[in-house]
Amino acid sequence: MTGYKGPERVLSGIQPSGGMHLGNYLGAIRKFVDLQTEMDCFYCVVDMHAITVWQDPAKLRAQTFHIAAAYLAAGIDPKVATIFHQSAVAAHAELAWIFNCVARLGWLDRMTQFKDKAGKDKERASVGLYTYPTLMASDILVYKATHVPVGDDQKQHLELARDVAGKFNRDFSAPDFFPLPEPLIKGPGARIMSLRDGTAKMSKSDPSDQATIYLTDDADAILKKIKKAKTDPEPLPSEIAGLSGRPEAANLVGIYAALSGKSDEDVLREFGGSGFGRFKPALADIVVEKIAPIGDRMRRLEEDPSYLRDVLISGAQKAGATAEATVRDVKEIVGFVV
Ligand code: TYM
Repeated sequence: MTGYKGPERVLSGIQPSGGMHLGNYLGAIRKFVDLQTEMDCFYCVVDMHAITVWQDPAKLRAQTFHIAAAYLAAGIDPKVATIFHQSAVAAHAELAWIFNCVARLGWLDRMTQFKDKAGKDKERASVGLYTYPTLMASDILVYKATHVPVGDDQKQHLELARDVAGKFNRDFSAPDFFPLPEPLIKGPGARIMSLRDGTAKMSKSDPSDQATIYLTDDADAILKKIKKAKTDPEPLPSEIAGLSGRPEAANLVGIYAALSGKSDEDVLREFGGSGFGRFKPALADIVVEKIAPIGDRMRRLEEDPSYLRDVLISGAQKAGATAEATVRDVKEIVGFVV
């Protein structure tokens, strides 16, 4: 429990480790856009998280601009929300160290994302990959964020951030200091699956480029990927129960619903009984309608990296002021000479 009484605030982040895709958009960025007018929002490009696995330096910089472009192209207004890159605000790393001393080895040992990413040979994984979740807790808590919009795959990391906040507050008898951040996961689009395998998450690291719809895909590429998307031979059912055991069908219906603002039930009411020959073109239409304009804006923004850099640097100055104030207080609480 925490008696935190500070303002409501949002923090979330995306790794610049590959192209932005439909899962990132529906699970995260779209929520970022909606929240910016409701609360004070901080949207970070988490470049320090990206280097927990090897990144080519020139690509890392370009991908950082790519994410900044996606934020802007999707409708985040840098005058309303703060857009910045993690490495430009040193307070994230400072607080992460203190959190490394608060979190327990057993907590990190349970993290499924580390197990997935490290694979069988975990001795060869970076130490940063292991302590990834304490840096993520720091990203959130250095702003005392109360709400964190993310996709379903980040649930366990959010639980760890709450555990770190609670333990810090208890260990230092500061029950009101950190809020327990609330994950904002629910809603359509929290878990978009691969177009080639309805049981695997849509991801930038999928070996098949037919599995993932990128925000910068043009109408033709989107159409082709949806046409080729794996399905089964049955027509769509008229009710949700009929989607069980049909992960590919469920995923495509979910994408249509998330983009059209309809429920899965409504989509099945409209398309129940139809084969994929009718459903896929309708799905492609709505993906093109909603995604292609974002991709166009991203391409234009990426032609002007100096503008994107200005947005990130001035965002970092704003973010830094808030983050440094938290770290100053934390140092005092922990007993450092300040
Ligand atoms: P990352 O960079 O892997 O993904 C960015 C956001 O996109 C969501 N997402 C998805 N949502 C639905 N369906 C999918 N297939 C899909 N794939 C990705 C993710 O859930 C995420 O919200 N650890 C984070 C980055 C991070 C962060 C933070 C997030 C670092 N610090 C602080 C929130 C708060 C990550 O790797 O996201």
